[in-house]
Amino acid sequence: MVEGSARRVVNIAHRGASGHAPEHTLAAYDLALEMGADFLEQDLHITSDGAFVAIHDATLQRTTGRPDLVRETRLEDIRKLDAGSWFNEAYPERARAGFSGLRVPAMDEIFDRYGKSTKYYVEVKDPHLFPGVEQSFVDLLRESGMMGHAREGGVRVQSFDPESLARFQAIEPGLVLVRLFSFIQDKGIISDEMAETATYAAGIGPDKFNVDDVVVSSAHDHGLFVNPFTVDTEAEMSDLIESGADGIFTNFPDRLAALAAR
Ligand code: G3P
Ligand code: CA
Repeated sequence: MVEGSARRVVNIAHRGASGHAPEHTLAAYDLALEMGADFLEQDLHITSDGAFVAIHDATLQRTTGRPDLVRETRLEDIRKLDAGSWFNEAYPERARAGFSGLRVPAMDEIFDRYGKSTKYYVEVKDPHLFPGVEQSFVDLLRESGMMGHAREGGVRVQSFDPESLARFQAIEPGLVLVRLFSFIQDKGIISDEMAETATYAAGIGPDKFNVDDVVVSSAHDHGLFVNPFTVDTEAEMSDLIESGADGIFTNFPDRLAALAAR
């Protein structure tokens, strides 16, 4: 599936509009939608009592100040933490009083809030640590009434772990799967790698430093869309669009929307 042939580049808000608001908070997601994002990205970890929560790191340290692992903490305890004040301290020029006290959102809460009015680009982190996590996420899609939306492309599932993606495919073949690449080691094997990826995925999400005309054309030749991460300057966005990227993960969805509007 190659998208964006008319150069309509898909705008993926990386952790929400996380250049403007604390990552993975409802404020960051709300702002991303106001700024024209097509997809809200979620990184998911699983709490000790089995809830999916949107947070990038395995520990709560960076965004809440609590040193514990997410997977060793109960949802009700995570919900008491302040996941917004760190942003005001780190980025005083972008600070807002309303960011203080923002919570780590659970994925079912996110689905409840936005429903089918937007699209989601979900990454379950460390799937090897959670046997059965793929089935649990598919169950969540069903319980949240989002399976139809997912089958229509409204919930993409991305992973660096091809075995996890293969398990998703086996459980629910209708899901749109995206293989992430932090690096592509050997340019000589790109075509083989893309051919293998196309057996289960609809697209690839390469680190932007991997993307060139060879990678894009090979992916497209195998029917895969290309969504590089994480791209925040207009110059880089323009270069990647020129190279044929179909969508872009960005912390600044407003910049990509402005570029696309020209
Ligand atoms: O999912 C694309 C990109 O977000 C992967 O890197 O570390 O930000 O999850 P990371
Ligand atoms: Ca991610």
